[in-house]
Amino acid sequence: MDRNLALELVRVSEAAALACGRWVGMGDKIAADDAATNAMRRTLEAIDIDGTVVIGEGEMDEAPMLYIGEKVGSGAAPEVDIAVDPLEGTNICAKGMQGAIATIALAPRGGFLHAPDMYMEKIAVGPSARDAIDINATPTENLKRVAEAKGCYIEDLTVVILDRPRHDRLIDEIRRAGSRIHLISDGDVAPAIAAAVEGSGVDLVMGVGGAPEGVLAAAALKCMGGGMQGRLVFMTQEERARARKMGIEDFDRVYTAEEMAQGDVFFAATGVTTGDLLKGVRYFSGGAETHSIVMRSKSRTVRFIESKHFFDFKPLY
Ligand code: FBP
Repeated sequence: MDRNLALELVRVSEAAALACGRWVGMGDKIAADDAATNAMRRTLEAIDIDGTVVIGEGEMDEAPMLYIGEKVGSGAAPEVDIAVDPLEGTNICAKGMQGAIATIALAPRGGFLHAPDMYMEKIAVGPSARDAIDINATPTENLKRVAEAKGCYIEDLTVVILDRPRHDRLIDEIRRAGSRIHLISDGDVAPAIAAAVEGSGVDLVMGVGGAPEGVLAAAALKCMGGGMQGRLVFMTQEERARARKMGIEDFDRVYTAEEMAQGDVFFAATGVTTGDLLKGVRYFSGGAETHSIVMRSKSRTVRFIESKHFFDFKPLY
């Protein structure tokens, strides 16, 4: 890709965050998601790309906007694939809890794994432990290896896990191994990115979460030199059929971050509510402040951007 699209992408995630920022704590996750999706769709129109959504709000018949296969951008070159989650953590936003983000990633055409809307088993770490993880090894073995790679004790590690009954055994094992656990109610993309940010307090993300979110996390970790492995978790025959339709043949395959997000990848996320990685949208008289991370795999540049938006000059919001 010749053009650096990073700063154009961050405008898109900022717009989504500003739009759903108004819905924080309002108890309506659908309205919040709609607001973010609308804003993202509109902002994408202004970017000179010939984009196709490959990770989006759902299949064409179930999502009015940013559905899989939808064309976005002005239509001018370059040809790119787009992965979006306009509001990652809809419940978090609706309840005004920690860690909701608006996020988007971009890759050359064919660069993203076309992950169906199903579950994925994931393990994610930062750059220093990228070669230490193995999704086929036990959680204890992974903790030992990550601690060794980071030059610390297992007890020093903090693992972020979605608080779900399906993780009871994983949580038990990690507790027995001695690592600290941070249970989250939703939103496993931001902690995966935080694992690659020095001093964030997050060392690993483990467990089963959404597959589309897995691809977004992979895009971010690839940009940061972090490590991630993911394996699709099939619950029904229908999911297998859907995956096959989307080009997935080997149902047991373990994907690395580089395999889920290939080529020159761009990633942007803006905080909606404050979390380990980003501050949420903060309003002031006549405007709002946003906090974003934006990066590109080719250059490995990671930018944290604090923006001030003045509504009189940006009537969209
Ligand atoms: P939303 O789609 O409501 O934003 O939820 C996102 C999320 O919490 C992801 O971060 C996570 O990967 C997935 O849902 C977990 O799914 P489930 O709630 O079914 O365990």
